[in-house]
Amino acid sequence: MFMSSSRSLRTRAGVLALLLQSTQTSAQSGLLSCANVDCPILDNTAISNCSVAGASYSVIGLTSIQSLSGSNLEWTIAVNQSKTGNNSLINRAFYLGVESSNFFESQGQSACSFFFTTLDDGPLFYDSMTPVSTDCTSRDGTGFSSQCISDLKSQANNLATSDTSICNSIAQTLQDDPPSSCSLASGTKVVAVPLTGSLGPEPISAAENETSNCWPTLPKTNQLLPVWTASIYTSIDNDTTIRSGAGTTPVMTIFFAEGNNEKSSAELVCLRPVDLNEKSVETMDDGTSEAQGMHVVSYWLVVLGLTFSATLVLL
Ligand SMILES: *[C@@H]1O[C@H](CO)[C@@H](O)[C@H](O)[C@H]1NC(C)=O
Ligand SMILES: *[C@@H]1O[C@H](CO)[C@@H](O)[C@H](O)[C@H]1NC(C)=O
Ligand SMILES: *[C@@H]1O[C@H](CO)[C@@H](O)[C@H](O)[C@H]1NC(C)=O
Ligand SMILES: *[C@@H]1O[C@H](CO)[C@@H](O)[C@H](O)[C@H]1NC(C)=O
Ligand SMILES: *[C@@H]1O[C@H](CO)[C@@H](O)[C@H](O)[C@H]1NC(C)=O
Repeated sequence: MFMSSSRSLRTRAGVLALLLQSTQTSAQSGLLSCANVDCPILDNTAISNCSVAGASYSVIGLTSIQSLSGSNLEWTIAVNQSKTGNNSLINRAFYLGVESSNFFESQGQSACSFFFTTLDDGPLFYDSMTPVSTDCTSRDGTGFSSQCISDLKSQANNLATSDTSICNSIAQTLQDDPPSSCSLASGTKVVAVPLTGSLGPEPISAAENETSNCWPTLPKTNQLLPVWTASIYTSIDNDTTIRSGAGTTPVMTIFFAEGNNEKSSAELVCLRPVDLNEKSVETMDDGTSEAQGMHVVSYWLVVLGLTFSATLVLL
């Protein structure tokens, strides 16, 4: 009994070490974190609490993409967990940061977003061993080769029109009849969310924003569109919790020029939350974590349910 639980603790600590290691290079790979947007941190912990329009998140990941006109947009994934006994509900919320509330109209563009998920809306893969990167081709065995990505983009570009009610049928085609260069896992689902048109998301208003203590986008002057939330039920018993929280969701965005069905562009990024904030970066940088036996404990330990002393930064 004792043996097996201490072994499982060691394994879990090992997983955490890997998570931390793999997140250190995140700045170079284009996947940013709470450390880059100054998320508030819970007292006496290294756990972020980024609260946006009433929803609080412990861990986020951000990266920028380019629209058809070359302007930057920022995708953010924000993850939280609520727990009952061994079971959890993990929410993976996706926000898009845009320059202005009428960004797409002002650029004369329409857009659809597509999330590649498991059947229960969960992340398509979990790869704590791979350095954090938004490049989906850097993942072994996930089926997204660079040829596949380029074929997916052409397929989406060919199907695109400026009528975003077509987003769903594009997703259906990508799901049922993907390019032969892609070997996506069986059971891969493609969820479509229009970014423009009557079904598109509205930016968070100043009134809704009153309770926010965090604005997880860059630049901070961006408006934030809440695009989609995946809600996944997991259990410590079936080992799906870490995977569902920390895993990776490929997100494709397609932009079309209004009134010109010939002109479109597509971007595909792999999004996952990165467990870093100012507190954890600080303790990693000055090495106090090891030297003084100080435990900077991050969110994923809490997810694992190892909350004894673990959520504290012990001095
Ligand atoms: C996180 O911040 C929000 C907004 O300030 C607050 O309502 C919430 O209680 C905080 N969460 C925790 C766990 O302290
Ligand atoms: C967690 O995220 C979901 C999705 O955005 C949100 O509805 C919920 O209120 C959040 N939970 C907390 C405790 O803020
Ligand atoms: C929303 O609130 C956050 C935190 O107070 C602030 O940084 C951000 O600029 C606000 N954004 C908008 C559009 O109101
Ligand atoms: C894991 O357990 C949760 C909670 O019981 C359940 O909702 C979920 O479907 C299970 N997942 C798998 C992959 O078995
Ligand atoms: C929770 O998980 C632990 C470890 O897997 C197990 O021993 C325990 O029975 C579970 N509790 C419940 C209520 O299922």
